[in-house]
Amino acid sequence: MAICYQSPIKPITIPQSKALTNPKLSFRCNLSLPSRSNPLTISEPEPVYASVKAFAPATIANLGPGFDFLGCAVDGLGDFVSLSLDPNVQPGEVSISEISGDNANRLSKSPLWNCAGIAAIEVMKMLGIRSVGLSLSLEKGLPLGSGLGSSAASAAAAAVAVNELFGGKLGVKELVMAGLKSEEKVSGYHADNVAPAIMGGFVLIQNYEPVELIPLRFPEEKDLFFVLTTPEFEAPTKKMRAALPAEIGMPHHVWNSSQGGALVAGVLLGDLIILGKALSSDKVVEPRRAPLIPGMEAVKKAAIEAGAFGCTISGAGPTAVAVIDDEKKGAEIGEEMVKAFLKEGNLKAVANVHRLDRIGARLISGIPR
Ligand code: HSE
Repeated sequence: MAICYQSPIKPITIPQSKALTNPKLSFRCNLSLPSRSNPLTISEPEPVYASVKAFAPATIANLGPGFDFLGCAVDGLGDFVSLSLDPNVQPGEVSISEISGDNANRLSKSPLWNCAGIAAIEVMKMLGIRSVGLSLSLEKGLPLGSGLGSSAASAAAAAVAVNELFGGKLGVKELVMAGLKSEEKVSGYHADNVAPAIMGGFVLIQNYEPVELIPLRFPEEKDLFFVLTTPEFEAPTKKMRAALPAEIGMPHHVWNSSQGGALVAGVLLGDLIILGKALSSDKVVEPRRAPLIPGMEAVKKAAIEAGAFGCTISGAGPTAVAVIDDEKKGAEIGEEMVKAFLKEGNLKAVANVHRLDRIGARLISGIPR
């Protein structure tokens, strides 16, 4: 028999954003969006699975002038979280049993300080879980501090894993809010990695308080490739955020706003000339960060000279991202970017060409109870 009682947390009211309910702006997502016309009071749900495994993709935040409000997910790269019911873990708590992958030993196994742990706890709180304990194992596919949304991918995979283990009761917005808690603690209050990591595709964060998300659909029939060139250099997000100006003048505000608008137009139209030009045009954040990444300015120049539609820093860096409509051409652009990192920055780098991930965080497997 199911044991159901009221959540120990306060009932929460979650307004659905127009974007998420408007069918014209619908997006493909593996997660359910429960309709919430009334304030939501959740009784503790029963676990549906004994264990699950979830994946969340890498993400490119900012895309130039979209600092903190625009990001997209890329395919073929990401983190995995496995989660199981564990009678040895205190009910209502999460224990991190294992972290594997590059630099795994640098990550905290305390669930209070690990991105996956923080997001998992948040989702458990939202669901009101207090009868079972969970054991979590994290497989890092993404390098740390690389500008590819490493912390967000761990948080997104964990949030989805917990939600799915208990039957997928929460919608994407709540999962993004859980991921945002994790980002706030480990790298800074920004959702432009975690929102696309959960939702896939391009996502515009219109508002943070309350969270309002607009999925932007890049036309499926158009080709879009990201050339991601990552040097052997770390750019911790906290440090790269500290380098930013506290205030900007009106001319820069006008310029960056218009370029941000053009970026959104480029995405929705599937127009890579508009998108690439806007991507390259940030006058506020990139000029402060590029000098902190050896060779970045030369890498951007090399990408554009090799035919990219645009190039900028991915997230807080040090990865450089260029956009192109042809995979082979993307590989050639990547070679030039690698050469420029070595020549001008004295940094070894690797380049890979990726497509947009339109799905976002997803369940990979599950063992029913
Ligand atoms: N918008 C964030 C920043 C993304 O640029 O600081 C970090 O990945």
